[in-house]
Amino acid sequence: MRLEFMCNVKENEVLGKNIYTSEGTILLKAGVSLNSFFIDKLKKIGVSYVYIQDERLDDVLAIDDKLVELKRLTIKNMSKIVKNVFNKDKKGLHDSIEILEELIDYVAENGDVNDLLFDVKTYDNYTYLHCIDTGIMSTFLGVNMKFNHLELRELGTGAILHDIGKTKIPNSIINKTSSLTKEEFEEIKRHPIYGKEILEKNYSISDNTIKVVSEHHERFDGKGYPNGLTGNAISKFGKVVGVCDVYAAVTSNRSYRKRFKPNDAYELILSGSGTMFDDEIVQKFKNTFSIYPLGCRVILSNSIEGYVVKQNVGFPDRPVIRVMDENGKTGANSFYEINLMNSINITIIGIA
Ligand SMILES: [Fe+2]
Repeated sequence: MRLEFMCNVKENEVLGKNIYTSEGTILLKAGVSLNSFFIDKLKKIGVSYVYIQDERLDDVLAIDDKLVELKRLTIKNMSKIVKNVFNKDKKGLHDSIEILEELIDYVAENGDVNDLLFDVKTYDNYTYLHCIDTGIMSTFLGVNMKFNHLELRELGTGAILHDIGKTKIPNSIINKTSSLTKEEFEEIKRHPIYGKEILEKNYSISDNTIKVVSEHHERFDGKGYPNGLTGNAISKFGKVVGVCDVYAAVTSNRSYRKRFKPNDAYELILSGSGTMFDDEIVQKFKNTFSIYPLGCRVILSNSIEGYVVKQNVGFPDRPVIRVMDENGKTGANSFYEINLMNSINITIIGIA
């Protein structure tokens, strides 16, 4: 399987991973041959890349069926959570949070960081998938920061619920595509407070989970909101989710802008070290996530193009690259690999 930008997808190529709607049902199933109708449709709804089956890369990306199922259940469950909040149904909210914990436990114990980061997101399913991506990323970062089991659940739950306060803000403001007025922006900035208020009313939600929700827009240098907290006045929970929320947000398409390429999003996080984000957290981020996802086609400084097939831990910009025989041959002689750890004169200059 390889990761391909929609503009590079050719007719009759076969979809490698399911594409879901916001309700968690399948929009297009893995195995479908992409004809021009499907390709146009996917572009129209804002899909910018898809996984394509490619036997030359079959050993690279395995599909974790259990995780796919847990994510689908979680997406379905998100609308229940919102309903429970509206109906002030504490028992219902408590039950739906248990479903989130199942996903978090699975990610923390069995997840492979390389499999998880790049699911297909469209405009319409942005909100829930963004929450789930933020939850999964935060859990990985928490594992690397040696959070204990309870803390991981608190962190992951808070990360998935981080924007729950937006349910208190009118849709006309949340979905506005033109620029916001000053008053509207001030209202948006209150969503961490609204989220805190919602969760505080539910006594089974831990203080650390509430901190994630109330602090996820606070910034290390005090330029965040709603309270302008600085440095260690922001909890480690709030700091982790602050970084992951930004990364997951800018790597998605929104109605008002195109997604960042993964390398640009990564650069954004690194450039915020010591200002927007705690330097220590950014260092952990670097040791946890790689810049170029597995299966991604990249261009090297020697003008050769190839696919990322293996990461080198701690060196996010120097993975192993598989270069294909362009005559389309298959089998063992159809490619060779360059390990950028051993070829220090070669660098990645971009995503193809
Ligand atoms: Fe937010």
